[in-house]
Parts: sequence; C-alpha cells; structure tokens
Amino acid sequence: MSEPEQQIVEQLEIAARIIANASYVIALVGAGMSKESGIPTFRGGDGLWDKQGEPPMDGYQRFLEDPVRWKAEREAQAARGSDFGRAIEEAKPNPGHLALAEMERLGYLQHIITQNIDNLHQEAGSTAITEIHGNRTKQRCIGCGRRWNRGESLGELVIDSDDLPHCPDCEGIVKNDTVMFGEPIPQDALASCFEEARQADAILLLGTSATVTPAADFPVIVYRNGGRLIEVNPQETPLTEISDAVVRAPSGEALPSLVDRVGELVSKP
Ligand code: APR
Repeated sequence: MSEPEQQIVEQLEIAARIIANASYVIALVGAGMSKESGIPTFRGGDGLWDKQGEPPMDGYQRFLEDPVRWKAEREAQAARGSDFGRAIEEAKPNPGHLALAEMERLGYLQHIITQNIDNLHQEAGSTAITEIHGNRTKQRCIGCGRRWNRGESLGELVIDSDDLPHCPDCEGIVKNDTVMFGEPIPQDALASCFEEARQADAILLLGTSATVTPAADFPVIVYRNGGRLIEVNPQETPLTEISDAVVRAPSGEALPSLVDRVGELVSKP
C-alpha cells in the first residue's frame, strides 16, 4: 500500500471513531461532493470559476433593478443551454450522496448543510437538509420566503402584466430558489445553519473549498465549541489545519468506507 493510501486508511479510522463517539454530527457539503455525479466544481484548479472567472457579485441587485429584463436574459440563457446546465440536469446521486443518506438512516448523521443546489441529497434519500444556497428545483418569494417545489401547483401564483409571477400571500416577486450572487441568504436557512452548528459536536467537511461565507463560518463555530472536524477533500483547504481527521480522497470513495467502519465500531460490544 502506498504512503498516501496508508494515510487515507489511518485518517478514515480517526474519522470513524470521532463519528462513533459523537452525539450530534452534521455535514457541510460543497460542490466537490457532486463532482462524481458529473457536475463541475467552481474552484480547485479545474472548476468553472477557474476557467471563466468568478461571476459578477451584483446579480441580485441587477435583478431587483429590472426583473423583467433579468427574466428575459435567463430565458435566453436557458434556451442556449450550457455544459453546466446539461450536467446538473443529467446528474444522479453518487455513492457519496447515498452514504450520507445511509448515515442519516442509521442515526450517525443528524443534518446536512449543503451549498449545492442540485437536489441530489433528496434524490439519494436524505431528509434532514438545509440548502444554504437554495435548490434549483424550487421557486421562492423574495418578499415572504415562501417556497414551491417543482411540480407543485404554481397555478396560485399571480402573473402580472410583465409576465412576472407574484406570491399569492404577499405579492412579492417569485424567483428561482437558487441564491444569486449578492442575494442575502434566506433567513430560515441561515437560522437553521446556526442552530445546527450550535448543536454539533462533530462536522464533516465534504468537498468544499471553505472559501465562501457564511457557509465556511459554521465549521469554525463547531470548532470553537470544542467540536471535531473531519475534512474529506483531495485538496487542502483553510480548514485543514483545524481538522482532527483529513481524508485526502474523493467523497464518493471515502464516505462508503466511513459508513461501514462506523457501523463496525458502534456494533462492537
Ligand atoms: N470529492 C471531494 N471533494 C472534491 C472532489 C471529490 N471528488 N473533487 C473536488 N473536490 C474539492 C475541491 O478540492 C474543492 O476544494 O471540492 C472543492 C470544491 O470547491 P468549490 O468549487 O469552491 O465549491 P464550494 O466550496 O461548494 O463553493 C462554495 O461558491 O460559487 C459559490 O455558490 C457557489 O455554492 C458555491 C460556493
């Protein structure tokens, strides 16, 4: 076995023992978790932003200034299609998503905070999820925060003379739930993240570069409360140095092994 492979085995053992002895485990998930489902990451050397540069940070402000124009631009962009759009449409949960759903079912994982909008955790069977950057399959009112799942009857939305959908409760504009650059994180999601971080005595850092806040702040809250950090990422991140276990492997490979080992540890007399 090579030195790196030996390292992975040792770090997975440390990670499994942390989880087996923890009482409230959460996960912070990033784009790397969905890479093995065919969805490109944003950073890490071969990500979307590495190739095309970070997008402007004022998308939400431009939307608020002229939602009709913004809607027309989005519809034109959707009509053109994109590699990212096709990848996210075709993506299926990978063994990493399935392992997290299994961990929830077995009681080893209490909550997922995901930065991903791809709905793959739900498709894998996870249910305790906070989507800090929204979900591409949902719509949300920017006035009161009410959401509609895809397929839910959107017939109750009030369509104005500019063909913009409005909330039947507060008349706010209804947009895709995905959080735009410059858009505040929805209050309900933010409150949930803080509550989960407060309760956690261990956090899995799965496929995130830990460079975007407020998501990258939650592991630090767990750390400051004396909780343990487990990083699963082929590359180093700003959280590596405060992590108790560092598994330098793809999440789709590491997580199934982790679930198995935790199962062995918890079933030992
Ligand atoms: N398994 C685990 N991690 C992986 C894998 C893999 N198979 N492949 C790549 N990675 C790691 C990379 O090393 C990198 O550290 O995943 C991380 C992806 O980082 P980002 O692309 O920055 O993704 P994320 O941390 O989720 O970005 C946060 O930035 O642009 C915004 O809204 C966007 O939600 C996103 C946020």
